[in-house]
Amino acid sequence: MVFDQGGLKDEIEVLIHLATTNKTDFFREPVHFNLLEKKLVPQILSQRARNITPRLKIWSAAASNGAEAYTLAMVLKDLASVGPYFDFSVLGTDISSEMIIEARRAIYPIGMMGPVPQDLQRRYFMQSRDKNGPSLVRVVPEIRQIVRFKQLNLISKSLSVDQDIDVIFLRNVLIYFDPPTQKLVVQRLAKYLRPSGYLVLGHTEAVIGNDMGFDQIGTGVFCVK
Ligand SMILES: C[S@@+](CC[C@H](N)C(=O)[O-])C[C@H]1O[C@@H](n2cnc3c(N)ncnc32)[C@H](O)[C@@H]1O
Repeated sequence: MVFDQGGLKDEIEVLIHLATTNKTDFFREPVHFNLLEKKLVPQILSQRARNITPRLKIWSAAASNGAEAYTLAMVLKDLASVGPYFDFSVLGTDISSEMIIEARRAIYPIGMMGPVPQDLQRRYFMQSRDKNGPSLVRVVPEIRQIVRFKQLNLISKSLSVDQDIDVIFLRNVLIYFDPPTQKLVVQRLAKYLRPSGYLVLGHTEAVIGNDMGFDQIGTGVFCVK
């Protein structure tokens, strides 16, 4: 007897959304973006051939509503504009299809602008025109077009993602997995990094990266040996 008439998939989507915590922010744990700019990108560029424009691939692996991925795009765009020039792309993935829709929409309550430097707010966000002042902001197309989003479950055996990623932000998601799954996900994702690529975990998850064959270069920041 067949009970499912196509509704099961929708039910699962709703369950996934309810079971996961989507808390995020622009510039959350800002020290990681500072390190990216000052240390990781310069290191990566120093290892690339000088006769062609380097192309960096960055992955926000539990992207929630996209705030982390858009923060990466803003930081990297400004860094590339002061030189040395490099090309880059940002991929944002999340298990929740609702989050992926929100991330692609790129519309946020103005209250989320707190951690975003004024100068970036002015250049990279458009404000809604409400009678009582703006209540929403939207990421400008120039930044939106840098970031691609897709639904992806980190616990799946095979992930359809490029295998030469320079930096993976895997922040504030491992805490929801049990220790064997945390280890499995970290080991699996490490295979998608270039040699000498970087894995960035949330501050509270930093210890998970210990004893897994990485060099630790900052709180939650690991380099493939
Ligand atoms: C707390 S948010 C973290 C967002 C962002 N990385 C940050 O640090 O601000 C955790 C995200 O992980 C996603 N998530 C949970 N389990 C997942 C899985 N198995 N695969 C992919 N994403 C998952 C949730 O949907 C949620 O959006």
